[in-house]
Amino acid sequence: MPILVAPLAGMALNMGNAMDEREYMTGMIEGAKAAGSITFTCDGPSPIFFELGLELLKKSQGWGVPTIKPRPEETFVEMARQMEQCGVPAIATDIDAAGIVHMKRAGQPAGPWPFAVWERTISRVKLPVILKGVMTAAEAKLAAEAGAAGIIVSNHGGRVLDHTPGTAEVLPEIAAAVKGRLKVFVDGGVRSGTDVLKMIALGAEAVFIGRPMAVAAVGGGPEGVALLLNHYAEQLGTAMIYTGCNTLADIGPSVLWPIRNE
Ligand SMILES: Cc1cc2nc3c(=O)[nH]c(=O)nc-3n(C[C@H](O)[C@H](O)[C@H](O)COP(=O)(O)O)c2cc1C
Repeated sequence: MPILVAPLAGMALNMGNAMDEREYMTGMIEGAKAAGSITFTCDGPSPIFFELGLELLKKSQGWGVPTIKPRPEETFVEMARQMEQCGVPAIATDIDAAGIVHMKRAGQPAGPWPFAVWERTISRVKLPVILKGVMTAAEAKLAAEAGAAGIIVSNHGGRVLDHTPGTAEVLPEIAAAVKGRLKVFVDGGVRSGTDVLKMIALGAEAVFIGRPMAVAAVGGGPEGVALLLNHYAEQLGTAMIYTGCNTLADIGPSVLWPIRNE
């Protein structure tokens, strides 16, 4: 299942209290599980984000990946240790939260930290660490050198810095630079199974979907999340039939006609 659920939370902060935060995160985690996918949970200025993730990931026996904000080293390592106890397969961190306004306002530093700090922090976390928010090949190479197990090519849904390029534009160069050294994931505006096919053709190994999954969770709980993921997976299957791809590994640049004709 190459379609994963991006970290996205904050009913009070971001979604006009559309529903109870626990009910929402349960929908995201359990719905993804039912569709054979996985949800990345969040961290934020209020402890509720991390604590809820911890509680629900424990309950789901580690079926999810916590995204810990790029907090100071000791705090990050301690939070990662708590998550390790839940049986999660990896830890992610949204390094592009370095300038994020909610964390600044709450007086909680979220980087940016120098390369040496990341190298040491990653070496101190037992689980694979995925860096989210990589937008250049140079940065992706640094992530590999620092020991990251994966990167998520992401501009945080356009929420952190205006005028950043789209992720589909930067993905091929990044994938060419580091694929094979670490896992390359992507998010940003993926809205159909055909979009998933395109992102894989551009070099991603799996994609994340954010905002539509939140809409599904608010509207339909776990069933809504599972329904939408299954819908995207079915569309991907259809797109694979029409492009002659039997397996995900068959999806390459040749399915994108402008590149094929170059
Ligand atoms: C309301 C909202 C909250 C988000 N919170 C987080 C977060 O806590 N951590 C994180 O890494 N990304 C966060 N994101 C970014 C998403 O994970 C994702 O990168 C982005 O929405 C792009 O994917 P999409 O276009 O499919 O929504 C948030 C996005 C939105 C819209």
